[in-house]
Amino acid sequence: MKACLRQKYGPPETFQIMEIPKPIPKPNEVLVKVIATTINRTDIGVSTGKPYAIRAFAGLFSPKIQVTGTDFAGIIEEVGKEVKDFQVGDRVWGFEDNGAGTHAEYLAYPISKAILKMPREIDFATMVACAEGAHYAINFIKKVELRPGMQVLVIGGAGAIGSAAIQILKARDVKVTAVCFEEDVEKVKNLGPDRVIALEKEDFTKELAAYDFVFDSVGKSRFSICKPVLKEKGVYISSELGPNWENIGLALKGKFTKGKRVIFPLPLDILDSLKTMQKLVEEGKFKPMIDERHFTLENALEGFAYVASGKKKGNVILHLA
Ligand SMILES: NC(=O)c1ccc[n+]([C@@H]2O[C@H](COP(=O)([O-])OP(=O)(O)OC[C@H]3O[C@@H](n4cnc5c(N)ncnc54)[C@H](OP(=O)(O)O)[C@@H]3O)[C@@H](O)[C@H]2O)c1
Repeated sequence: MKACLRQKYGPPETFQIMEIPKPIPKPNEVLVKVIATTINRTDIGVSTGKPYAIRAFAGLFSPKIQVTGTDFAGIIEEVGKEVKDFQVGDRVWGFEDNGAGTHAEYLAYPISKAILKMPREIDFATMVACAEGAHYAINFIKKVELRPGMQVLVIGGAGAIGSAAIQILKARDVKVTAVCFEEDVEKVKNLGPDRVIALEKEDFTKELAAYDFVFDSVGKSRFSICKPVLKEKGVYISSELGPNWENIGLALKGKFTKGKRVIFPLPLDILDSLKTMQKLVEEGKFKPMIDERHFTLENALEGFAYVASGKKKGNVILHLA
């Protein structure tokens, strides 16, 4: 079978598209024919081994799993002898943020990890686009005590995390203002926020004490810049560590602070995120943002370069079949 491989940590140019043996599922694994997966920012982190903290999970000196890819949607072709809850022919999707080797025509995946049967009416690309960015958005949002009517600012509405965050927050009945570049305003409006700010036209940092929660989904701001726009007990969360990993230190300090504070959540419980997303999709409350550019294994390295550029819109689909 064909797959995208990296033997060492390094930039996407060093990855190779190769023929490798089709995996044989272990007793607790299912063999999935992968139909769609994404190339995402987690793939870039896991594949390049940066930030270095990621190597504690993905492999200290070289990647534990050589095939790239973290998420998948596909069809079960074989089940291991201990597998009871899944059958051949089931349409399934899953995500593993430390890497799962999903950029391959076939994947042997343990059922102890995050995997769910897909709803019949949802297509593979749509389903897989509900995994990575949405998982982080859910985990960051659930650290904040939201009440209906609260004002939330989402910086980076056109990213995978930001586009998911806007819709997840709207399903929680809060008022969402999204920030993006002018060229993305129409796309972001389609996600249903109450207001969209075009970065080039309006300066959100001038909106003093306007927000209960600022969520920088692209990690381009700092707490010091956003602090004035927060209300008295407002919370700031960024998806990035910030300069000199300042968001970790600020989050520790925030544990002892009563006023405006930083939280830096560790995203956990992937299965719960998948269940939440599947429910929102089934209820028609979530439609993932999918980039206009689609890739196959033949041009996957181009896809990696595109994602690493920080220019993608929402989720980039890699079609395997
Ligand atoms: N903490 C964690 O566990 C974790 C996990 C995964 C990812 N991350 C990090 O989270 C960040 C976001 O990931 P993602 O996949 O959502 O990103 P993404 O999809 O790559 O975001 C790209 C989009 O963000 C827009 N953008 C860039 N700078 C912006 C700014 N200053 N204001 C508003 N929009 C801006 C870009 O617009 P243009 O194309 O117009 O430039 C592009 O549309 C990344 O830095 C990633 O490394 C953190």
